[in-house]
Parts: sequence; structure tokens; C-alpha cells
Amino acid sequence: MKLFNFGSLNIDHVYDVTHQVQTGETITATSYDVFIGGKGLNQSIAASKAGAQVVHIGAIGPDGSLLKEALVNAGVDVSQLIETDTPSGHAIIQVNEQGDNAIIVYGGANQQLSKTAIDQVFHLITPEDIVLLQNEISNVDYIIERAYERKIPVVLNYSPITESLSLIDLNKVSYLLVNEIEGRAAAKDSQVIEVLTRAYPQLSVVLTLGDKGAKFAKAGREVITQKAYEAVVVDTTGAGDTFTGFFVASVLSNKSIKEALDLSCKASAIAIGKSGASNSVPTLEEVLDK
Ligand code: RIB
Repeated sequence: MKLFNFGSLNIDHVYDVTHQVQTGETITATSYDVFIGGKGLNQSIAASKAGAQVVHIGAIGPDGSLLKEALVNAGVDVSQLIETDTPSGHAIIQVNEQGDNAIIVYGGANQQLSKTAIDQVFHLITPEDIVLLQNEISNVDYIIERAYERKIPVVLNYSPITESLSLIDLNKVSYLLVNEIEGRAAAKDSQVIEVLTRAYPQLSVVLTLGDKGAKFAKAGREVITQKAYEAVVVDTTGAGDTFTGFFVASVLSNKSIKEALDLSCKASAIAIGKSGASNSVPTLEEVLDK
């Protein structure tokens, strides 16, 4: 049982700022750093650290060797990573004094993952595996169609929100991971859990609620609630990805939903105590000790 994560890889340019820049304003950053990120890469590293066997599928450019290296160092299989002439994806991230971020993502090589390349990977995937997706690469809707045809469960992290998400048929998704804003976009309503579970009876919905924890809901089942763990907030970047990686790894190893939510909330509480994205993902030992 493996996790096949079709996901982005980004070079994150991170600026610490007193407040996030407003229209017409120029501000000075108090510090600058470059980190390894991308929702896809962060989630692969988190799932691998949580104990899953992870294959990362994505595309990098000539400047992407550090991205590949970070995956390799975390034990992720990079044999399906494609190297293109297009520069790797990058993100411009402002982190304010409260640790909250504002992110601009430029897709770059992440948008070069072709249907042909995707088809080749599907020869390796079985219905016992899981396909994980976010919304920072090309052909997300196509990958979902291919997985559905082959009866392979899909976990979709509905992030970031773009118009292309409207191409996705949530009837073909097994798990949907959303924060409150993404949940409202998916449900087109503020009653996220009620609307999604009614419209999609096959769908397991995981709603993350920041410092209020998380909820799991599926049609015909009682909603499971998980509290958040206390944390010193340094930088929230990558906390959601840490949650997703630990959650999917827990599902793959047949942990109960309650246990999966608990581990994922603990892991993300540790992640927000450090700067950066993939480098703030804790080890399983750190999470179990919390
Ligand atoms: O979720 C955090 C990530 O979003 C960052 O690493 C950035 O690259 C963007 O993809």
C-alpha cells in the first residue's frame, strides 16, 4: 500500500514583515529566507515522516535539484519526478508578526505535468494504494478521472482555490480535506459539512479549523471532533500540509479516524512552532511524544 502524491514542488521565498503589504504600499522585510516548499512536496514529506511509503509525481526545472534532494532525504521515492526546461515553481510568502502568512504561487514547472506522463504512472498504481492531490499542478481533474476508472481512492486537498476546481467531480473523490474558506468554496455554502455530506454520500470530509481543531464527517456517520493542541505560533506556513500528510499516512495504515485526527492535529501544532514549510514538519517520534 503506497501513497502516490501528484503534487507541486516550490522554492519558497519567505519574508518576515510587521504586516502584510497593502495595495499601493511599499514595506521593508525584517528578514528573508529561502525554504523548500510546495503543498505537494510538503505533504509527501509529512506522509513519509508519518511512516507511509510515498511516491511523489511532479515536475521540476533546471533549478530544482534542492527540491528533489529534500524529498530523497525524507525517504520519498522520486523515480517519477520529471525534469523540464521550465523553471521550478516558486512562492512569495509574507509572514507577519502573528505568524500568519500571505502566499503568491507561480506554477512554473508544476504546470508541465502532461497527461502522457500521468498515464505512465498509473501503470504502477493499484486499488490498494491512495492517490493524493492538491491544486497546484496541471491536469488535476484528469488524474481524478483516471483514478476513479481504476477504483483507486483519491484524497483531495482543495487548495489553493482556483476556477479549475470547478472541473472536478467530487462524486469521484473519497476524502476531501478543506479549511473553512476552502470548505465554503467546495460547498458553495457556509454549512460546509451538512451540504457536502448530503451532496456526496461517498465522501469523507475533513474540515480543519485552525486553533479550534478539526472535524471528520461522512453521510450516515456521527461527526467526529478533534481539539487543537496548544502551540507557540512562529509561522503557520505548511501546518495544513503537515496535517494532510499525517492524516493520509494514518488512513493508509488503517488507523481509526479519531487517532488520525489526533496525530494530525499534534503534528500541525508542532509545525507552526518553526519557520518554513517542509522543514517544519516534525518526525513521528516528536509527534508521539507531544
Ligand atoms: O501550504 C504552504 C505552501 O503553499 C508553501 O510551501 C508554498 O510553496 C505554497 O505551495
